[in-house]
Amino acid sequence: MSPTPISLAHLPRLRARHYGRLGDLIRPGTHESPLLALGKRFVLSPPGFPPMLITHDMDDVREVFSNHDDFSVGQLMSRLSSHDRVFGRETLIFLEGDDHRRERRLFSPPFQSKALKSYEDVMVEVVERTLPDWPVGEPIEFLKVGYDLAIGVLLGVIFGDVAPERQDRLKSAVQEWFGAIESRGFLAVTLLTPALGGYTLPYPPLVSRQAAVDAVVIEEITARRALPGGGSGRKDMLSRYIDTELDQHDDVALARNMRGILLGAYETTAITLGWIAAMLAGHPQVMAELDARIESGDSAGLDAYLDAVVAETMRLRPVSPFTGRRALRDTVVNGVLIPKGAIVILPILLIHESPEHYPDPLVFRPERFLDERPNGHTWLTFGAGPHRCLGASFALVEARILFRAILEQRRIEPIVDALEPPRRFHTGLSPADNARITLRPRVRVTETSGAKGTA
Ligand code: HEM
Repeated sequence: MSPTPISLAHLPRLRARHYGRLGDLIRPGTHESPLLALGKRFVLSPPGFPPMLITHDMDDVREVFSNHDDFSVGQLMSRLSSHDRVFGRETLIFLEGDDHRRERRLFSPPFQSKALKSYEDVMVEVVERTLPDWPVGEPIEFLKVGYDLAIGVLLGVIFGDVAPERQDRLKSAVQEWFGAIESRGFLAVTLLTPALGGYTLPYPPLVSRQAAVDAVVIEEITARRALPGGGSGRKDMLSRYIDTELDQHDDVALARNMRGILLGAYETTAITLGWIAAMLAGHPQVMAELDARIESGDSAGLDAYLDAVVAETMRLRPVSPFTGRRALRDTVVNGVLIPKGAIVILPILLIHESPEHYPDPLVFRPERFLDERPNGHTWLTFGAGPHRCLGASFALVEARILFRAILEQRRIEPIVDALEPPRRFHTGLSPADNARITLRPRVRVTETSGAKGTA
């Protein structure tokens, strides 16, 4: 007979006067937090909120991530943030159980490795198109470059070739929609959501701008369906979906899901690109290793090291420093009874900084991922389990391809000062100084021809 589960009331409790310390869990240096004295599990019960268990016991973490039937990530998001209004409750992250399994299967093919390969040209082309405009020899905010790269790649990969006039309308509709999401008005609405029990107040500018994006996307879907063979054979995500079982989806649902993918991918990718540049500027020995691999023409070695740089950056600077789940019913996790409605917070950054999983955890050392791929249990930048980020492989390939294309033409100048501390940005960890770095032209020295500039 299994032992009687313990209730949350029997676990260490964070007192209200220490709630301010919760910010420690989303800022690098988590292991210095006095919160850790409470042990691997502790509970808080802010008035008006469901009880919350914060756990970095790895058995708990594994069980919660893999339990698709008793926990919901969407319910957590809609209780604590305005994500349901932004994404729409019908999109993947808000579905559970069989509904989620079915939709995830339908949406997965464009994220498989063969498809990913076909997007690489778009990624390189976006760098080639934008790089000449980036100033050299003076500081630039690479976070802004990251946003430009991310949107360029996403529009290219998701929609492919769109007639220029419709392309312009799509771009401005998307920009206006992002503007509404980032507006002060909507930020205020978002901040009110947790206090209103998870109810997000209607925000009409968001609704009208979402509708404007969807209208252009539906127009594009209709135009593609009218092509001979339905535009079959095109490599972009939209065409792949039109070609497959997603044909069964009505066009409104397809447009909404394309918008959901765009949103899930945009800011997360842009911020990660900013962090990679900041990390390279702050770690000249890592930049020197990349330089050496570029100079030697060892492209497999360069790719392997870039992958390691990306993985190590995502370990130390995960855009989402935590994720979590909400219990759909009373559920026992590793001997603890989680009552229906309770929230379990899984502190990704704290796990990434644990010396139990990573020796010298605060040291930026890509070499730790050179011979070993990140371990899916302790490297959690993309979450884990059935809701693990659908775009994880896409994001990893994209970061490698973009940085390879950039570094073949530019060097990142070292910054002597330590990295600035990160700051909170909406729900993500973002570089405090917008990743201010300086780019220099790459001058290649070849054995036979002496110095040869590439820029
Ligand atoms: C560095 C970039 C990215 C980061 C850090 C990131 C992070 C995450 C995280 C933490 C989750 C929730 C996982 C969980 O709680 O278990 C998630 C879900 C998701 N992400 Fe990403 N993401 C990134 C890029 C992308 C891209 C490029 C796409 C698509 C092109 C994408 C699409 C999605 C989707 C559709 C989900 C929901 C999956 C589901 O519910 O089944 N993400 N992402």
